[in-house]
Amino acid sequence: MLKQIMKLFAAIIFIVASIFAVPAHADGPIIIKFSHVVAENTPKGQAALEFKKIAEQKLPGKVQVQVFPNSQLFGDGKEMEALLLNDVQIIAPSLSKFDRYTKKIQVFDLPFIFKDANAALAFENSKEGKALLTSMKGKGLIGLDYWSNGMRHFSANKDFRLPKDIKGLKFRIQASDVYEEIMKSVGASGQKLAFAEVYQALDSGVVDGQENSFSNIYSQKYHEVQKTILETNHGVLDYMIVVNEKWWDGLPADVKKGLTEAMHEATILNNKIAKQKNDDARAAIVASNTANPKHAKIVPMSAADLAEWKKAMEPVYKKFEADIGPDLIKAAASHGK
Ligand code: LMR
Repeated sequence: MLKQIMKLFAAIIFIVASIFAVPAHADGPIIIKFSHVVAENTPKGQAALEFKKIAEQKLPGKVQVQVFPNSQLFGDGKEMEALLLNDVQIIAPSLSKFDRYTKKIQVFDLPFIFKDANAALAFENSKEGKALLTSMKGKGLIGLDYWSNGMRHFSANKDFRLPKDIKGLKFRIQASDVYEEIMKSVGASGQKLAFAEVYQALDSGVVDGQENSFSNIYSQKYHEVQKTILETNHGVLDYMIVVNEKWWDGLPADVKKGLTEAMHEATILNNKIAKQKNDDARAAIVASNTANPKHAKIVPMSAADLAEWKKAMEPVYKKFEADIGPDLIKAAASHGK
């Protein structure tokens, strides 16, 4: 009886392993799983689909790209491990989520280091920005490209305008030590939570606020469970497309070339639509507040208030200067702080 159960168990493992195995290119298309956490109707969601389309067009019969949005396959926390285990081949985490693999990428999280999304893009395309794509090679990760989303804004379940107004509040933050310090610098606290858990945490009051791009705020409906979104533009929400180094290096040269080209084309699309998607989401949030005043209102920030937020968060730079490196901070800021 025990033997039969063991046999059955072995058969099930074999079937499951065959389904999920990445076939060698000679036996059929290479299956490429691309997992991400946001909705399809976002810059990243659209760019991932574009990558699939172009990769399969360029490499007919050689690759099949399967895109899994909305944390369907792996959410934050699990997706990086899954990539290193080759359970998924491409992921596109926010630049705030690489703390454990390199301290250098923390430069993107420094408060107000980029005056707008274009300044961040210019840094990403610079020599120093490009070098960061290969900064995790020793850890088994290679960055192929950056994808832009947009600027981040704070929201909360109460009205606020100045740093002092959010004293004592708890904000959901991404898995970023810099953001933990940012929240401390204004007397609030940060709770690291996976993206898939944020709406529930806001709705139930586990956290009072969060910070994100308009595209994410709207597509995740945070504006329905928040009172105020202050247009802080305090940071950039951009992504690095990363692959497992061993898997990538083991691909046939023509496949690698085709995928690299497809990724660049997807990047062009992403960066072309990111601003529009965020502008549309902003307008939709305004309309939602007009229709239902219980939904969050967007509050623009005056120059005087902005100066106050910047001053409050300035000490965060000192805390991370040694880890990131003063030269890298200078290089990032040189594109317009
Ligand atoms: C977040 O966790 O808030 C974002 O990084 C989600 C995303 O990928 O845009």
